[in-house]
Amino acid sequence: MNKSEQLIHEDSKYFAKPGRIKYYPLAISHGYGATLVDIEGNTYIDLLASASSQNVGHAPKPVTEAIKAQVDEFIHYTPAYMYHEPLVKLAKKLCEISPGSYDKRVLFGLSGSDANDGIVKLARAYTGRPYIISFVNAYHGSTYGSLSMSAISLNMRKHYGPMLPGFYHIPFPDNYRGMFGNTQPNSVDEYLAPLKEMFEKYVPADEVACIMIETIQGDGGLLEPVDGYFEALQALCKEHGILLAVDDIQQGLGRTGSWSSVTHYNIEPDLITFGKSLAGGLPMSAIVGRSEIMDYLEPPAHLFTTGANPVSCEAALATISMIEDQDLLSASTEKGDYVRQRMDQWESQYQSVGDVRGKGLSIGIDIVSDKQNKTRDADAALKICNYCFDNGVIIIAVAGNVLRFQPPLVITYEQLDTALDVIENALRDLESGKLDNYNIDGQGW
Ligand SMILES: Cc1ncc(COP(=O)(O)O)c(C=O)c1O
Repeated sequence: MNKSEQLIHEDSKYFAKPGRIKYYPLAISHGYGATLVDIEGNTYIDLLASASSQNVGHAPKPVTEAIKAQVDEFIHYTPAYMYHEPLVKLAKKLCEISPGSYDKRVLFGLSGSDANDGIVKLARAYTGRPYIISFVNAYHGSTYGSLSMSAISLNMRKHYGPMLPGFYHIPFPDNYRGMFGNTQPNSVDEYLAPLKEMFEKYVPADEVACIMIETIQGDGGLLEPVDGYFEALQALCKEHGILLAVDDIQQGLGRTGSWSSVTHYNIEPDLITFGKSLAGGLPMSAIVGRSEIMDYLEPPAHLFTTGANPVSCEAALATISMIEDQDLLSASTEKGDYVRQRMDQWESQYQSVGDVRGKGLSIGIDIVSDKQNKTRDADAALKICNYCFDNGVIIIAVAGNVLRFQPPLVITYEQLDTALDVIENALRDLESGKLDNYNIDGQGW
């Protein structure tokens, strides 16, 4: 057994099964930029960015230095009782960079999941209404509230239900496949029909507190919406006094080329959640929203002892500064455009590439066995992933068959070229049957 195998064996004795989706035997030693090094000394190009929590790259100096400076001052004092400057500076900054032309407030948490739970509390309290609507295929997190909003995997439902009451799910306005097995996307009106029927028959619209969206459905398969859907949805929300909330935990903070992915659409959500890359990967999440909603509840309605940890706050401030100083928002757009010049051609060059989609460096490559019917090919996607791993590139598949291309925004053009070469070799080998021997048993979502 080499060191990695030993570690992984030891891990299996102590770390419980539900905490990891099986992929590769990769035991990390360290990282820099978009490079990962395992404990054997092998280097990899990271196209996963730790599930988009490393947008500014691995161990960037400005962030590590900010962390080190803060730990020498004080590691924590709970915002539940006292004040500290890193919290105030970060809350102010988040109000500045978040979309919305209204007066804002911020609440902090430790994970994307708890931020989305906060949305449920705030929306129910402010509107005095019980129901929450989100989308089929959504992933909003692993706590009961965020899980109740999610609808992506039976393994996230089985054996520990029931979920919270009052949650409903509607079809995501997928711009590639349509509803109920349609190969073509539906129209905005067709996608809105299940919601309207819900309002007519079994969920009174004036009892709905909030509709929660992911602008690009991340773990659901990097799905983009049909044009005009979110705008029509917001109009419907306004008509019925329903709040619109956006989960920007995966798509925010530069991933799609802007601070918030909301700016790609003509909508103004009332509430928005950030997490993942916010503090460069330290545990931290934030809800940003209209001040009258955010200030509605009385304390201690939504607080966490280790929330707004000053080390995380300083890491977040350094992360945001790094995005500004290195213009990583433009970099995301430009690098996204660069890879798409090549990837978009794969749709006509390779039988297995059904669709390439996304914004900035949030890209999904939809692997299919039959292009006309858009038949998902999860096995092929996993074989491609394994080939990439064997050739020094880390990429995973979401929704079974969609390659998730979300590297750190600091990835170099040289690394992008290498990664594209490796993925393209995998596509070629897949089609000539050379990947047939990969054993993908038990891997993936
Ligand atoms: C869109 C979205 N929301 C929420 C979450 C949950 O975040 P966390 O794992 O930090 O709780 C995730 C995580 O993958 C996500 O992609």
